Amino acid sequence: MLFDALRLGPLTLPNRILLAPLTRTRAGLEHLPNDLMAEYYAQRASGGLLITECTMVAPGTSAFAAEPGIYSPAQVAGWKKVTDAVHARGGRIFMQIWHAGRAAHPAMNDGAENVSSSAIAIDGDVHTPKGKLPNAVPRALALEEIPTVVAAYAQGARNAIEAGFDGVEVHGANGYLIDQFLRDSANKRTDGYGGSLENRARFLFEVLTAVTAAIGAERVGLRLSPLNSYNSMIDSDPIGLIGFLAERLNAFKLAYLHVMRSDFFQAQKGDVMTVARANYQGVLIGNMGYTPAEAEQAISEGKLDAVAFGTAFLANPDLPERIQAGAELNQPDPGSFYTPGAKGYTDYPAMSAAMA
Ligand SMILES: Cc1cc2nc3c(=O)[nH]c(=O)nc-3n(C[C@H](O)[C@H](O)[C@H](O)COP(=O)(O)O)c2cc1C
Repeated sequence: MLFDALRLGPLTLPNRILLAPLTRTRAGLEHLPNDLMAEYYAQRASGGLLITECTMVAPGTSAFAAEPGIYSPAQVAGWKKVTDAVHARGGRIFMQIWHAGRAAHPAMNDGAENVSSSAIAIDGDVHTPKGKLPNAVPRALALEEIPTVVAAYAQGARNAIEAGFDGVEVHGANGYLIDQFLRDSANKRTDGYGGSLENRARFLFEVLTAVTAAIGAERVGLRLSPLNSYNSMIDSDPIGLIGFLAERLNAFKLAYLHVMRSDFFQAQKGDVMTVARANYQGVLIGNMGYTPAEAEQAISEGKLDAVAFGTAFLANPDLPERIQAGAELNQPDPGSFYTPGAKGYTDYPAMSAAMA
């Protein structure tokens, strides 16, 4: 089943083993995609679909210091090298478009203030180029500012298409701006963007309306993580949230819905995949902790349509070939996840090299 083709909007994926979005901080402080990144993605071109690392749709929103952006002509040109390299190897690639919201830190953004749904900071400290600093209290977006932020996602999507991407994945997960509207520990607004599920989802739906109008719904996916407590996120009813969203998302006719099924820290638990499947009629991608065997079983039982692999694909550029051959997998090295340069990035051996 993992090697059955899958229709995804205008694309036909040759397999259901996808590259999950993985921030690797190789773009430098100018947030510019480069040749090394082109090599990294091209190495993984045999994945059914590659989803890039989260990519800033607006300047002044950096949360990792050396992540890429998609708001300048130079970034579009840099990403063109990536998409050309992936397409030359026969691959397909979506860009994960992203606004960090309160996770952006002024120390990484020339002092620019961060924004969110409400003026509530992430707990604890964050590593910045200026050392470890407490997370900054964001400014709550004013009603009249929201259309500008929504428009930035649409422009990011247009830029991604100009850069040769096959589509975009809207990042609605992991405690970034959209998620800061969705979940009620972060969103304490009393206007039309806070309170009820309908109100908390309003910002997401406005983003999806703008992005699908910009590039076509069949080229737009969405990632959600209703359980993940990363970035101080908690919701009082994650199952209710995913059920509501999954049902309402049908109207957008997206290329796919991508759901992270668990919590990095195991603070919140629940079966969100079953609820997503029951309420969503389109292509459903699962992620987090799937082994190839579990992925195969889940797809064959109809629980989902494809699985995105994060750490396993990071460490195995030829993950589909290895799974098909039943070969050993390289182990990921967390020490080089976010370091600069090729080490731990493009030097994981492919199967033939590993066996030589
Ligand atoms: C180094 C690293 C970077 C990540 N960056 C992103 C990201 O940019 N966007 C995102 O949505 N998730 C990100 N994630 C989460 C992964 O996409 C994925 O959900 C996680 O690794 C769990 O899947 P796995 O068990 O297959 O590794 C990241 C995870 C890791 C380990």
